[in-house]
Amino acid sequence: MSDQTGALPRHIAFIMDGNGRWAKARGLPRLEGHRKGVDALHRTVDAAIEMGIEYLSFYAFSTENWQRPADEVAGLMALLRAFVTKELEKLKKAGVRLRFLGDQSPDGKLGDELCGLLTKAEEETSQGDKITVCICLNYGSRAEIVHAVKALVQSAADVDSLSEDSISSYLYTKDIPDPDLCIRTSGEQRLSNFMMWQLAYAELMFLPVAWPDFDAAHLRAAVGDFMGRERRYGKVLSA
Ligand code: IPE
Ligand code: IPE
Ligand code: MG
Repeated sequence: MSDQTGALPRHIAFIMDGNGRWAKARGLPRLEGHRKGVDALHRTVDAAIEMGIEYLSFYAFSTENWQRPADEVAGLMALLRAFVTKELEKLKKAGVRLRFLGDQSPDGKLGDELCGLLTKAEEETSQGDKITVCICLNYGSRAEIVHAVKALVQSAADVDSLSEDSISSYLYTKDIPDPDLCIRTSGEQRLSNFMMWQLAYAELMFLPVAWPDFDAAHLRAAVGDFMGRERRYGKVLSA
């Protein structure tokens, strides 16, 4: 049980921030920061498997990130494409079950071809039994909630049947437990439209390290910090 002090988090969510600043500080193009960011993601998955974490989520591209320069967006999409093709075998071997959370609607911005690759990667890794890794892509928390409410209304649910559970059952995370811990790197202290519903009672950590430098030692330290926290959920647990 991850809601008891001393227990491992079942699900850790990452807002992978600071790639651009990491690159700029080294006189490199922003895309180099994103490339190193993918390495950090693989490192984190390997370390989390070793620690026995069941679920990881990574905020990879927000619904707002389309406003970035076209060449940066294209570079990020190329990295994603490599992730679900060239890098897939490595993830499969490690026992990763991949999931993509976000707007993949047919007329959406990701495009049919890329969405097909994402579905294929999910299918090919569906037997992964070491860890579930959610990549949040073209993801925005408010858009997700709007999408869920629309689907609920279309299902002709009557108003009285609306509940926290019924809304949760239409979110992209419907079959995934809420994150216990959310880590944002690079020092910014905001959610930037990430899992606002699911993080209602998560422990939050804002670390100064830039995402490309995040490693197993940072993960172990964050999990150690988490395990020392008392999660009260509004109750009184100790006198
Ligand atoms: C996070 O790093 C990666 C994405 C949002 C895709 P940034 O690209 O936001 O890096 P900074 O915040 O500009 O340093
Ligand atoms: C949040 O980072 C999105 C991802 C990590 C994918 P941003 O860098 O886009 O967020 P802001 O603009 O600093 O809030
Ligand atoms: Mg940023």
